[in-house]
Amino acid sequence: EKGTYPHYMLKEIDEQPFVIRNIITKYKDADDSIKLDEQVRQAVIDADRIYIIAAGTSYHAGLVGKELIEKIANIPVETHIASEFLYNMPLLSKKPLFIFISQSGETADSRGVLVNVKKLGHKTLTITNVPGSTLSREADHTLHTYAGPEIAVASTKAYTAQMAVLAIMAVDAARAAGVEMDFDPLQELGIVANAMEIFTEQKDVLEEIARDYLSVARSCFFIGRSMDYHVCLEGALKLKEISYIQAEGFAGGELKHGTIALIEEGTPVVGLATQEAVHLNLRGNMKEVVARGAYPCMISMEGFAEEDDKIVIPKVHDYLTPLVSVIPMQLISYYAALHRGCDVDKPRNLAKSVTVE
Ligand code: F6R
Repeated sequence: EKGTYPHYMLKEIDEQPFVIRNIITKYKDADDSIKLDEQVRQAVIDADRIYIIAAGTSYHAGLVGKELIEKIANIPVETHIASEFLYNMPLLSKKPLFIFISQSGETADSRGVLVNVKKLGHKTLTITNVPGSTLSREADHTLHTYAGPEIAVASTKAYTAQMAVLAIMAVDAARAAGVEMDFDPLQELGIVANAMEIFTEQKDVLEEIARDYLSVARSCFFIGRSMDYHVCLEGALKLKEISYIQAEGFAGGELKHGTIALIEEGTPVVGLATQEAVHLNLRGNMKEVVARGAYPCMISMEGFAEEDDKIVIPKVHDYLTPLVSVIPMQLISYYAALHRGCDVDKPRNLAKSVTVE
């Protein structure tokens, strides 16, 4: 039930710190090590390549998942849109593992791929919020995201939960394979949960930004590099689906190769820079759009924030910034939709689970 909340979406955004703490508890052993199904661990470390298959927001979590698994566990990963993979399968490696990411576990596009790869005899794992779901029942293994029921059509807490579980899974596999590392996901996720609360407790600032930037905007761009680029895709999807503002996420360096032609006087551009290695490059890209009239909204991270940045996320580990940086984006989308009189929980043309191809 949504209790005192005006919308499920707002409630579900607020629940994210608790969801992350819940995941930490569920995946923690008595001795503080990671608790994860031995067979899942084995399936991951046996793979010579992982294929992540998903749709929509879950696909965006999969893009972050690729970064995490490759950087942490040293296993090559490809992330694919389920409906594309279904009719245009790439060449596969010799020992692939297929990971299906799905909040509902019922997405027909993903199920189509699952059925096909099972016929080929490949190993499968579903990461889902609904353990009894079709994708969960039909895959060899399941990892539960423990986000609790997600009612709002726009996915929020399922996305951050998926990325948390992917980080834990990656570290578990890395440790099992003897990869050295000083990244403790259970501890770092605790820091993430606290950082998330900074935004869920200070919504007035984000409501003001939504009013200022998006009350009358026709379009909006989100630009970021590396990890931040993936979050920009998700930020743009959130804004599109609930506020009906045309929004696009772009890689910071790619905008100038064409799309920059769309920037007009006053076009809102959200810049996301949480990755130290590329934050200066992104700031350069922001200057390019500002020179063409864009109205900039910089989101950066503590440690290399600048005075004019609109939103500064608390310092969290490089691998986990998406879990925090998406929160202001979710809240800005929520308030933009609210101010524009949109039906936040049930946007037009959309269904919560897409069981047709
Ligand atoms: C966006 C959204 C959709 C879903 C997509 C996949 O907010 O909810 O893009 O993410 O339909 O759904 P699941 O994760 O249930 O497979």
